[in-house]
Amino acid sequence: MKKTPPLVRLVYVSRNRLSGDAATMEREVANILAVSRRNNVRAGVTGALLFNADCFAQTLEGRRDAVEAVFERIQCDPRHSDTVVLQLEQAVPAFADWSMAYGGRLDDERARFDRLSNDADQATRGAAADSVLALLRSVVSRALPALG
Ligand SMILES: Cc1cc2nc3c(=O)[nH]c(=O)nc-3n(C[C@H](O)[C@H](O)[C@H](O)COP(=O)(O)O)c2cc1C
Repeated sequence: MKKTPPLVRLVYVSRNRLSGDAATMEREVANILAVSRRNNVRAGVTGALLFNADCFAQTLEGRRDAVEAVFERIQCDPRHSDTVVLQLEQAVPAFADWSMAYGGRLDDERARFDRLSNDADQATRGAAADSVLALLRSVVSRALPALG
């Protein structure tokens, strides 16, 4: 029997480089989500995304080669910068039902979220990844069922 390759999870945070007012930013993120969902279905990648005025946080799940290929593209995107990978390891997908779930704009969580990216030095990355995942899980389940 053919062995299924192990699945990995990548968690990263980055600096939001979108400009404009809240509505403009929401529109731009909607564009990102639309393209992500189309591409990720094709690539067999799932995950979740959230942002605030300063940061993005995203998890990508799937076969390692597929996740790495998507992340290569994402890293070159000028709509954000300073990507910090908090976790890349074998894992059971947490968002297997979503090509890219959307946690929304989390300005009320701003302090916590900003701290995650600022404190993401080597020693604290594991804990930061767990916090990002917990945050994504909680906001995505709250945002149900309006997700694709
Ligand atoms: C924060 C952020 C997250 C993104 N997430 C994804 C993603 O999950 N999948 C994806 O294909 N593109 C994602 N993108 C968009 C890519 O950077 C890139 O624009 C897109 O993959 C190009 O797709 P296209 O060649 O089909 O136009 C993201 C961009 C940003 C800024």
